[in-house]
Amino acid sequence: MDSKLKKMVFAKNARLEDALECCLAGGKKVAFCLDDDGILLGLLTEGDILRAFKDGATLDTPAATTMNSDPISVSDSLSFEEAKKLLGNKIQLIPRTDGKGRLTGFIDLTSSEYGFLKIKSKNITILGLGYVGLTMGLVLADTGFQVKGFDINRKLLKTLGNKKKPFFENGIDELIEEHVGNRLRLTDDIASAQADIYVITVGTPVDKRTHQPQMDAIKKASASIGSLLVPENLVILRSTVMVGTTRDVVIPELEKASGLTAGKDFFVAFCPERTAEGRALTELRQLPQIVGGLDEKSVELAARLFNEYTPTVVRTESIEAAELCKLIDNCYRDVRFAFANQVAEIAEKIGVNIHDIINMVNLNYARNSIPKPSPGVAGPCLIKDPYILDKVFQNHGMQASLLMAARAINELGAVSPADKVDAALRQKGKTLENARVCVVGFAFKGAPETSDLRDSTTLMFLEHLKEYTSDIVGYDPVAFREELEELNIGIVDSPEEGFKNADAVFVMNNHPSYKKWNLEELLPKMSHPSVFYDGWHLFGDRNFINHQDVEYMCVGVGNNR
Ligand SMILES: NC(=O)c1ccc[n+]([C@@H]2O[C@H](COP(=O)([O-])OP(=O)(O)OC[C@H]3O[C@@H](n4cnc5c(N)ncnc54)[C@H](O)[C@@H]3O)[C@@H](O)[C@H]2O)c1
Repeated sequence: MDSKLKKMVFAKNARLEDALECCLAGGKKVAFCLDDDGILLGLLTEGDILRAFKDGATLDTPAATTMNSDPISVSDSLSFEEAKKLLGNKIQLIPRTDGKGRLTGFIDLTSSEYGFLKIKSKNITILGLGYVGLTMGLVLADTGFQVKGFDINRKLLKTLGNKKKPFFENGIDELIEEHVGNRLRLTDDIASAQADIYVITVGTPVDKRTHQPQMDAIKKASASIGSLLVPENLVILRSTVMVGTTRDVVIPELEKASGLTAGKDFFVAFCPERTAEGRALTELRQLPQIVGGLDEKSVELAARLFNEYTPTVVRTESIEAAELCKLIDNCYRDVRFAFANQVAEIAEKIGVNIHDIINMVNLNYARNSIPKPSPGVAGPCLIKDPYILDKVFQNHGMQASLLMAARAINELGAVSPADKVDAALRQKGKTLENARVCVVGFAFKGAPETSDLRDSTTLMFLEHLKEYTSDIVGYDPVAFREELEELNIGIVDSPEEGFKNADAVFVMNNHPSYKKWNLEELLPKMSHPSVFYDGWHLFGDRNFINHQDVEYMCVGVGNNR
């Protein structure tokens, strides 16, 4: 037994004071109780001792009464890699024993050999300060990390530098105010973005026409990091990518630009972002973080980083497994929504209410949880990730036919309301071509609320609507006015203005404020006759009983009136 270990050992008749001294002497805040033959009887941590004092123990209390008499220990022949599986956020030190149970040493994640625990002292650079990068950077800064945010978009950096939010996100103003310029420093100069840990959060769109994943930003960001990389750095890819991208695209770029070797000189992990816009700042601290690494140390380092602000880390068997986790998450959602959107179509034809039917089917029947239909499926993730996964299938000579069918249903859902309302107007002697139209809800979702217009189904719907009419006004309670103005329609600040003389009103997202509308006051402002299209079943036809010349249409509801 070496001298350091000896200092950490106390006898079974020792007092708490002796055990405390052992904890301090070893510098590990842990002490071991051995019998006269060196057999491990128990373990005491500094925390155990402090808790015992709180519960009334004194320095003279026998240490054996408060120690853990059944500590996890490992055989001294077990490899570190195997033993490490027993270590976690709570257990960072495990005694090693020989075949007779005698203490021979310990495994310690805090040792400089593994260098893991000092994660908090690491500097982090985030590449790409969009929704994912900015929210993560702010949460890291709020957790106490020194973070640099690098982005090629100078306008964005200027907005942030002026402590203005570039998009709506619950709770973001306070974090920007507190951390930007302090623990989160912004830069557009890659040379000044050197760090210990790099996180790539750049966009990974698919081509609008061909649906091919666009890899330029990932490649450029990887090359930028490669130019700064030094041994022992960790690189985390967080953007959503095709399976194989980390290994086949990111690592080669990093190695080429740095001259270093992944797994030997530096570490690489893929840790997907899974938060929902609107709840990102809360979810970042709550959702399990999936971590796939190139090797054990890559996983360990990345897991330690995320464990600093979130309680659950899920380690996958490989980088590719983690990449696939992210894709199937979103594709599954897209398919479920497509199912709801498809059955909504038949309900409309039959003349029944699919919302009621889904409620009945789901009631106390845990095997099912059918979602509700909506005007398509929107947002920068669900709209593209099925194409990214389909590309992975194609790369292996296969087709993701279910995913593509779901996409087709969901994309049709975004445009069909215009055609349906046109047909309804024609029955009233009007047409959508000559109609004044009010569109409500442009952000890609209303709840949780976001200002994000990217890949909003309302924009796809608008494109189609413009083929009918140019007399369109739009209202959204959250989206930024300057972004709405770029849509080349009239923008109004209230539903009252929007409803005025409208031949058709389309409610295209589910912002909770719409439910507070006073329809008794709003509906008479519309033109007569007219059509009200409820894309989210927020209202129900009872609100229209006194307004027979305003036809209530709703996704998934057959109109029997
Ligand atoms: N938005 C979400 O809610 C969400 C959720 C989960 C996953 N994701 C995924 O995360 C990734 C990022 O999404 P986002 O919504 O934050 O994208 P975004 O478009 O909002 O932000 C990307 C940022 O990266 C910057 N950028 C581009 N190239 C760069 C480079 N070479 N170096 C530095 N910065 C660069 C852009 O200027 C932009 O500010 C995507 O892969 C997306 O699919 C997004």
